[in-house]
Amino acid sequence: MDQSAVVAQMRQLIQVLAQHNHAYYVMDQPTIEDSEYDQLFHQLKALEQQHPELTQPDTPTRKVGGKALSKFETLTHSVPMLSLGNVFNQQELNDFARRIEERLPNQKIQYDVELKFDGLAISLWYEHGILVRGVTRGDGETGEVITENVKTIRNLPKVLTSTTTPIPELLEVRGEVLMPKAGFEKLNAENEAKGEKTFANPRNAAAGSLRQLDPSIAASRPLAFYAYGIAQCQPHHGQSTMSASLEWLTQFGFAVGEQHFVCDSIQEVQTAYEKINAERPNLSVEIDGMVIKVDDLKQQQQLGFLSREPRWATAYKFPAVAALTTVDNIDWQVGRTGTLTPVARLNPVAVGGVTVSNVTLHNIGEIHRLDVRIGDTVSVYRSGDVIPKVEKVWPEFRPVDSVEVHLPEQCPVCDSPVVMPEGEALARCSGGLYCAAQRIEAIRHFVSRKAMDIEGLGDRWAESLLHLDLLKDVADIYHLHAHREKLLTIEKMGEKSVQNLIDSIEKSKKTSFASFIFALGIRGVGETTARMLANTFQTLDALRNADLDALKKTPDVGDITAEWIIDFFQAPHNLEVVDRLIAAGIHWDAPIAPTRQPLNGESWVVTGTLSSMGRDEATQMLQALGARVSGSVSAKTKCLVAGEKAGSKLDKAEKLGVAVLDEQAFLALMAEYGQSLDA
Ligand code: IVH
Repeated sequence: MDQSAVVAQMRQLIQVLAQHNHAYYVMDQPTIEDSEYDQLFHQLKALEQQHPELTQPDTPTRKVGGKALSKFETLTHSVPMLSLGNVFNQQELNDFARRIEERLPNQKIQYDVELKFDGLAISLWYEHGILVRGVTRGDGETGEVITENVKTIRNLPKVLTSTTTPIPELLEVRGEVLMPKAGFEKLNAENEAKGEKTFANPRNAAAGSLRQLDPSIAASRPLAFYAYGIAQCQPHHGQSTMSASLEWLTQFGFAVGEQHFVCDSIQEVQTAYEKINAERPNLSVEIDGMVIKVDDLKQQQQLGFLSREPRWATAYKFPAVAALTTVDNIDWQVGRTGTLTPVARLNPVAVGGVTVSNVTLHNIGEIHRLDVRIGDTVSVYRSGDVIPKVEKVWPEFRPVDSVEVHLPEQCPVCDSPVVMPEGEALARCSGGLYCAAQRIEAIRHFVSRKAMDIEGLGDRWAESLLHLDLLKDVADIYHLHAHREKLLTIEKMGEKSVQNLIDSIEKSKKTSFASFIFALGIRGVGETTARMLANTFQTLDALRNADLDALKKTPDVGDITAEWIIDFFQAPHNLEVVDRLIAAGIHWDAPIAPTRQPLNGESWVVTGTLSSMGRDEATQMLQALGARVSGSVSAKTKCLVAGEKAGSKLDKAEKLGVAVLDEQAFLALMAEYGQSLDA
């Protein structure tokens, strides 16, 4: 390569690294996997080693990551927060050790081996044992003062106490803030349920939480701090090794990694690395490697620093869990509940020791977000034991004949229309009663107690009946009596069981309109909604022909459910099944015309302990008057019935200005409407 080509390659790498650095440190939104970043970084470093004279002045290999955001006050670290060199394999680890041995000939060297936490480095200042300041690493020289946020971290001592050790006048502890995996998953699940942004990984969740200007947000996040070093201690703590100084910190209540080792040789370091790599999925926190440090603090001093990295420590990263491959095709799979999930068929590729050839793309929104097309080159990654995921599409490698992917209009299994109401993330097959992919769920639901109530069929026989090809859809249930011989071939199915089954099928034919509607398994139509629909529409024909407006006016039917109902009765195959069910003899008495329902459509919540009845009874009274009883208080709640020890729901109702009734007032109101306990 001539010089200008080398420079051009360096410039390109610097530019790409700078973009990703900005995304990672400033935006908290990484655009590539860490391992991919490391690969690019390594490539640049290698070029610089081969051509030191061409090293560019703005190379990131000479400085550390992010820049402080302007929102917080900034502070210059009195001891800079540096970064670590990397090794990726045993050869590079041996080289690291050899360089140390050359500088410290004839000295015994022990290594302190720690987890490399994948979080955010911070510095904590304690003056006379009191936490006075918390600062982020920032660019290593200058960080952001985030003291108030740091004080909300629960496992971090705010005041140092010890009965045996004098408290230092000044102590600066360095360590990592992170979000343990369990807390991260809980936070994401909660955010998803609330329709709020979810975080890509625990590191981003921790970074996003620490950067909140409002400390109450940080306080609500499950953050933890792990110490890994002492930048200053006056008077000196008196420990002579890294491992002992970490141990010394634990007596004040600082947490350190749940695993760490002192190794006598580099071979032992390698063994520890393999052990940790194997146990990685079981650790409570996310790690991206291990940190190997010369244990003796005097030796550390002798070794000193090279550029911005200590010679006495390095990060031993875990092997890349990301790989590049191409998308050969994108198929749609239909789940048991009718959801359509796009699955990318990949050119098989090894990712972290496992061959990956299929990866879920979750939903059409994800396809749009990634902008992934058939033919594209993608990065696929696995973290720990997690399922492989497409992390990123590389548009620069897109072939001219790439194919865009659209949501199919028809279910790939049963041809029924595919529907996706506005505001829903998932597309579904509307042929719920007919679609083979949804058969087993449809049958289990149809025969369940609150639906057609056919005893034994759901949990005991459904699978065998499907295997014998006796049930293509739920209407076939009512023709099973014609297949006695075949039924007897099912294991454990004797004459008596056959008769019992046929009897309970026969008995189920007499039902109620509400149970029948519920049994159809229309999305969003639970028991209560089914009852409201039965009361409102009275006949199956009226329900089948109801328009969107009429459905939306029905108590308990939201806009999306109304659309699901329309979609259900528009799928021709569903109608065939419904007709066959009625033809088989399912019938019901006309629903009782709606009685006086003074609380029609209102949303009520019952909480706390009631002395005269259980919450279930209170719920039944309210439902009898037409109210909908929900489990959580929102702005839409009409009224909260609060018993003893009502707690957070009461607080929320008061905050939202929702009316609250105590038990006495509630009973009085019920009596007014003719509902009483012995009624
Ligand atoms: S020691 C002179 N120990 O890794 C630097 N760092 O790549 C001394 N890190 O900025 C750092 N776990 O945020 C050290 N057990 C550990 C660590 C650790 C994670 C992070 C730290 C540092 C980065 C360097």
